[in-house]
Amino acid sequence: MSTQTTFDEHAYKADLRREWREAAPGWQRWLEVLEADCAMPELGRWLLGAVQPQPGDRILDVGTGYGEPGLTAARAVAPGGHVTLQDLSGEMLALAHDRAADADLGDVGVDIVEGDADELTLPAGRFDAVISRSVLMYLADPAASLARLRAGLRPGGRLAASTWSGPDDVTMAAPVQIIRRLLDLPAPPTGQPGLFALADPQRLHEVVTAAGFTDVELGTATAVFEFTSPAEATRFMRDCAPPVTALVENQPPEVRERVWLRVTDEAWEPYVGDDGRVRLPNLAHCVTAINPP
Ligand SMILES: C[S@@+](CC[C@H](N)C(=O)[O-])C[C@H]1O[C@@H](n2cnc3c(N)ncnc32)[C@H](O)[C@@H]1O
Repeated sequence: MSTQTTFDEHAYKADLRREWREAAPGWQRWLEVLEADCAMPELGRWLLGAVQPQPGDRILDVGTGYGEPGLTAARAVAPGGHVTLQDLSGEMLALAHDRAADADLGDVGVDIVEGDADELTLPAGRFDAVISRSVLMYLADPAASLARLRAGLRPGGRLAASTWSGPDDVTMAAPVQIIRRLLDLPAPPTGQPGLFALADPQRLHEVVTAAGFTDVELGTATAVFEFTSPAEATRFMRDCAPPVTALVENQPPEVRERVWLRVTDEAWEPYVGDDGRVRLPNLAHCVTAINPP
């Protein structure tokens, strides 16, 4: 059963900043798994397929993390285009900065902007497209924030974003139920931002429509994370998944270790192949829409 509690946005944002600051070294360490062709790029392809970036376009990537899908879009807007890589976490953006410096982007301009997408005010009509991969569900007020992002789009400009589906379809979240059971944690509160806050595609459609977008279309894409063993899958989660690690972080070290051992034993079992490798499919809901002319 889920519970309704008061939402303290200030405390939530402080936690979010700390969690992504702490996760940034992990995202650097596991970049090969995250950016494997079958993994996060599957979602990026859906988003960029919807936006169809053209040479000269100006694109904003909200919650870009290590710079995706913004840096992939940057290649498509050459020559003369521009990408703005935005994120709440300076530590995640440092990864984006390094990857942008290593990418051969020719004359494409790259801005890196640290800030809260819930507070972003953009110059009117500046961007041809706004893209965002795996971020909207963390926003405190996605409809209001999307309305502000829409104001930064030119008339006819396009939004494309993805959010994770529910726990049954996002197998990397398999540890959550195990951790809750072992630690006897209460069910998560409803109606608050988090990993599954926009897991219902109808809700995603509603927030995009409420933000004033038209021509709203939904789709899906699946990111598969591959590991050599269950132990490696658990190490990945511990390094990269703040919404999951937050569930155990206040426990004494010996309890934490016991919980992670149980996760390794139980969580990945259905996803181990004959070769011993773990393949975790994760379904995302994708949305695209237009800022009406
Ligand atoms: C799951 S990561 C996704 C990163 C990247 N877009 C990708 O797909 O690889 C979520 C990112 O959203 C950022 N984020 C969370 N809440 C945010 C907010 N309110 N404003 C801006 N960025 C936010 C986090 O700092 C983190 O880098």
